[in-house]
Amino acid sequence: MSDKPEKFIDENGLRLDGRRIDEIRPMKMEIGVLSRADGSCYLEWGKNKVLAAVYGPRELHPRRLQKADSVLIRYRYNMAAFSVEDRIRPGPSRRSTEISKVSREAFEPVVLTHLYPGAVIDVFAEVLQADAGTRTAAINAASVALADAGIPMKGLVSACAVGKVDGKLVLDLNKPEDNYGDADIPMAMTSDGEITLIQMDGDVTQEEFKQAIEMCKEGCRQIMEIQKETLRNKFTKLDEVDISDDEEDVDVSALVESTLESAEDDDIEDKESDSDEEEDATPESSEEDEDIDVDESHSDFEAVELVEDFEESFTDVDEEEDVSDGEDDEEKD
Ligand code: CDP
Repeated sequence: MSDKPEKFIDENGLRLDGRRIDEIRPMKMEIGVLSRADGSCYLEWGKNKVLAAVYGPRELHPRRLQKADSVLIRYRYNMAAFSVEDRIRPGPSRRSTEISKVSREAFEPVVLTHLYPGAVIDVFAEVLQADAGTRTAAINAASVALADAGIPMKGLVSACAVGKVDGKLVLDLNKPEDNYGDADIPMAMTSDGEITLIQMDGDVTQEEFKQAIEMCKEGCRQIMEIQKETLRNKFTKLDEVDISDDEEDVDVSALVESTLESAEDDDIEDKESDSDEEEDATPESSEEDEDIDVDESHSDFEAVELVEDFEESFTDVDEEEDVSDGEDDEEKD
């Protein structure tokens, strides 16, 4: 690990990597990179490289884990052994378990979980190269991968961290700022500015904390533009060509519609009914199995509205430009 720099911000207000204090690192994304996943996204953000894959919604086995009234979201954040300077021991760690938990919670408010009772959506975020801010990088990639999989959501989730170095707040920490700075506050938020993840390491004043949220909103707004552009590029291209039977070329709106329809067909069970997976014999879970049914309260009309809302979340740039005042004072360490 390199030594602590004497100064993080020079006399021109520039950081060690030449960025201004409110500038994010260059980010690029590629969508649909994995043919076996239902949705996927590869992201490079500064020197971070992250791959996100989404599978589902599909029937959850064993059935006793199923939720009668909603889909179960599972999120696995993992750092490849070769992703950091010192090799990481393969397998889950306290850190990766914690990051997986808070990242899953960052998506739960936006995914329309009630549409797929009894089903599961699996999100895998693999960090291939780490250089500070990997949990936020993984969330940004996972958000696009979920949309690519046609998972109905209220909107995208974007994430970024704010930190403090040389007594100043800085957006999107680089490695030395992350290692030696006075604070690190990763956040994730929706396009409405609703905070779905916030953690804090280090110390900031109350005033700085409020400023950090505003700074992060602006960072997330910029990231959301990149996410939308990535999705738009793929699906505009698809609009121009005939959608064939090639699985990789399915339009997200068609996917969303078909997933909604299949939810309304009330038959997640039937989709994989020939599965040999275990049956749970307990009275409680067999009762649950019977209850696994689609929420009847969703009429066709509502389903169409949901699809439209979902599409709007990444097609209408102007409407979402103001990442407005969401408040969440919750701090997690
Ligand atoms: O990556 P993120 O900022 O979300 O999480 P962190 O725990 O604050 O880690 C900051 C950085 O430290 C990571 O991005 C990695 O570059 C590095 N790191 C490492 O080298 N070895 C680890 N076991 C964990 C993190």
